[in-house]
Amino acid sequence: MVPDLTTPSRERPLPVQTSSVQTSPQAILLADYQPFPFLLDHVALHFKLHPTQTRVTARLSFAPNPAAKPGQDMRLDGENLILHALSLDGRTLAHTPDATGLTIPAADLPDGPFVLETEVEISPETNTSLDGLYMSGGMYCTQCEAQGFRKITYYPDRPDVMARFDVTMDTDMPVQLSNGNPTGLGAWHDPWPKPAYLFALVAGDLVAHSDTFTTMSGRKVALNIYVRPGDEGKCAYAMDSLIRSMKWDEEVYGREYDLDIFNIVAVDDFNMGAMENKGLNIFNSKLVLATPETATDDDYARIEAVIAHEYFHNWTGNRITCRDWFQLCLKEGLTVYRDQKFSGDMRSHAVKRIEDVLALRARQFREDGGPLAHAVRPDSYVEINNFYTATIYEKGAEVIGMLRALVGDEGYAKALNLYFDRHDGQAATIEDWLKVFEDATGRDLTQFKHWYTQAGTPHLTVTDDFKDGLYTLTIEQKNPAAPGQASKDPKVIPVAVGLLNSDGAEVVPTTVLELTQERQSFAFEGLASRPVPSILRGFSAPVILERESSAEERAFLLAHDTDPFNKWEAGRALAKDVLMRKVIAGGDTPADWLTAVETVTFDETLDPAFRALTLRLPGEDDIAQSLHAAGHVPDPAAIHSARRAMQGGLAGHLAKRLPALIDGLQTPGPFDPGAVAAGRRALRLAALALMARLDGGASAQVAMQNANSMTEELGALAILLDVGQGDDAAAAFRLKWQGDRLVMDKWFGLQVVSAAPDRVAQITDALTKDPDFDWKNPNRFRAVIASLASNHAGFHHASGDSYRLLADWLIKLDPVNPQTAARMSTAFETWPRYDADRQALIRAELARIAATPNLSRNLTEMVGRMLG
Ligand code: PHE
Ligand code: ZN
Repeated sequence: MVPDLTTPSRERPLPVQTSSVQTSPQAILLADYQPFPFLLDHVALHFKLHPTQTRVTARLSFAPNPAAKPGQDMRLDGENLILHALSLDGRTLAHTPDATGLTIPAADLPDGPFVLETEVEISPETNTSLDGLYMSGGMYCTQCEAQGFRKITYYPDRPDVMARFDVTMDTDMPVQLSNGNPTGLGAWHDPWPKPAYLFALVAGDLVAHSDTFTTMSGRKVALNIYVRPGDEGKCAYAMDSLIRSMKWDEEVYGREYDLDIFNIVAVDDFNMGAMENKGLNIFNSKLVLATPETATDDDYARIEAVIAHEYFHNWTGNRITCRDWFQLCLKEGLTVYRDQKFSGDMRSHAVKRIEDVLALRARQFREDGGPLAHAVRPDSYVEINNFYTATIYEKGAEVIGMLRALVGDEGYAKALNLYFDRHDGQAATIEDWLKVFEDATGRDLTQFKHWYTQAGTPHLTVTDDFKDGLYTLTIEQKNPAAPGQASKDPKVIPVAVGLLNSDGAEVVPTTVLELTQERQSFAFEGLASRPVPSILRGFSAPVILERESSAEERAFLLAHDTDPFNKWEAGRALAKDVLMRKVIAGGDTPADWLTAVETVTFDETLDPAFRALTLRLPGEDDIAQSLHAAGHVPDPAAIHSARRAMQGGLAGHLAKRLPALIDGLQTPGPFDPGAVAAGRRALRLAALALMARLDGGASAQVAMQNANSMTEELGALAILLDVGQGDDAAAAFRLKWQGDRLVMDKWFGLQVVSAAPDRVAQITDALTKDPDFDWKNPNRFRAVIASLASNHAGFHHASGDSYRLLADWLIKLDPVNPQTAARMSTAFETWPRYDADRQALIRAELARIAATPNLSRNLTEMVGRMLG
């Protein structure tokens, strides 16, 4: 079981810098889109399942596509398939496939409809890419988005080819699932035409947690969550989330479920979070299985959000899909936008918005400011799997939020109804999407479209002026260059603004200013005195706001802003200012920040979750990002120690009041996964973390002993590890949780995240030699290797050890699972921020990866883009 390691060694000389990637795979261009020359009316698939010799027969009923140029060849995609039989209308054909597919020349194709039949052989057991048909823990399962179906059979594997599917299978497995409605054991009929990326098949020894849902028109739907025997007691929260999602989509969007059955399957080996296959969603088991003892509050919140996300895809993604993969944000941005609103409705909109913006800045702003920046709708790609990014998903959702801010709630509702009416059953584009908004609201969205086509985060600079009762805000926008996009036109940016007077009363309620020019002034009349502006309320646009503002003003907004997002943001900006100044110039933590945070922390009228967020200092990567944006070269070690010093200062300031806060936030009684109880746990842990700086972890020890949820147990362990007192606790935790894969992922991750910067490479390396480090399992690989990248000071340690270790592992993983290797390589995307030595170290590792023989297209593209 011990993996064969290429041990990273300090002594190894730095590889010589090679010029660029060895091969340059072909880029696919949006401008080259052509419809497929044939329509596919119906697909009949039969699977004779076998671990290494599965036979797939496909019967494809084609007709010429009247929208395409006649007389074209038929090109079918296919990879790693052994072709055993090929016939057209019953006549055997002798064409030989190449490495990526099969061409049937026009001369062999009739003018009218025809049936193409193939039989291929595939080997699910040896398919370690987790793309196509593969095996996980003894069960057969599939992953077809974006281009996995071509590893199952020869097919026009593109989202604009939509067909009705019938599926049968031959296997001993007791549970046999596919899309649509069941017509017998292992027989399924899907009445809704769909692209191949939504196909799914599962066969295994599984058990179901079942329920039912009655739709708004009174149809009863069977609901099942399939898991491995023994896990059936861990599905209740996922099921509850599913039922609430189904109800919400009816109430808020008027969208009803459209099959008799909805199945979810949890699998342990999965590259992503989950997948919206029609009627058969497949989930990474960590986003399904939860008990209070094993799942944290964050896990519960993510399960709820992802269950909703995949369910919502049934309309935004499945009923209306994407014409081509450049339009990925059409389904993902919209579905993220929908799941964010759902979570807000279930929990707290204020807290959800703050968390979403934190994630946006941490992942999307980071991406948008570096060599991997790309438009929400890119116009070229080499490997589409590299574009399942924070930009497509999270910025894609922000763009929809802005659209809604511009057209209003009513306009949004009208546009969405028109979208569903007009495009149901179609494969649509961003142009179609914007057109429904134009037609429904009469608004011209030409300028708005820049949000889809231009990469990079706009910078807004705001200045103000007050004279004779007239208050003027002047806003300027700068759209920075991005890879391949030098000059940018100004965007239309909704800037939500409110004005407060010096007593904290709101004199101008939230107003959306529409910035359309490079520089624009907005006037407010009749004010008695100079107001305090609250700008970009609710984070109304994904921009970086720059405004000279005093600590007093920020503290004032933290105390008085009526907009909860901006209230938090004021405290955040203040903390960031202090921290950045500390990194650059050193010195004490200013009293005004300490007092302001203290006030919020102990304000019983505020939501504990909000208070916990205010207590949380900006992370080290975030500080590095901001320092870089402000023209400094971030020093990871200096950031690390400044942040710790600031935490220590805060702990000292709050010292006397922390024990009472910690005691008062205990949550006795049975576990409640709801947002209120979770918020109390979050605040309590934040207080315990500060307390540990004063008592060496004694309070956290007690908390760990008394924990009655994974949130408390893991939270306390993290605190102990953070103050260097966690070794015994970590060992005990491991003994206790040895048999639980998902909990052990947390254990692995925490060792790395909490490691001191000068020890993280060594600790990570040791963990990769642990017998339980199953590196082919993406969750386990991520727990260790992605955590290395998220330990900012450790990853960027001047020795370069962590860079080398990461590169070694990417090279090792690439031939086994190129998607996950490529995704993990984004740890290197921030290299341009750092000093010349670190830049050279990272570039050398990227060059070493690029020079590896037979590197995947996935990783080749990523490394090539990062090297520029
Ligand atoms: N479409 C999936 C989701 O919702 C993500 C995914 C992409 C899963 C590719 C697997 C493979 O969001
Ligand atoms: Zn999605």
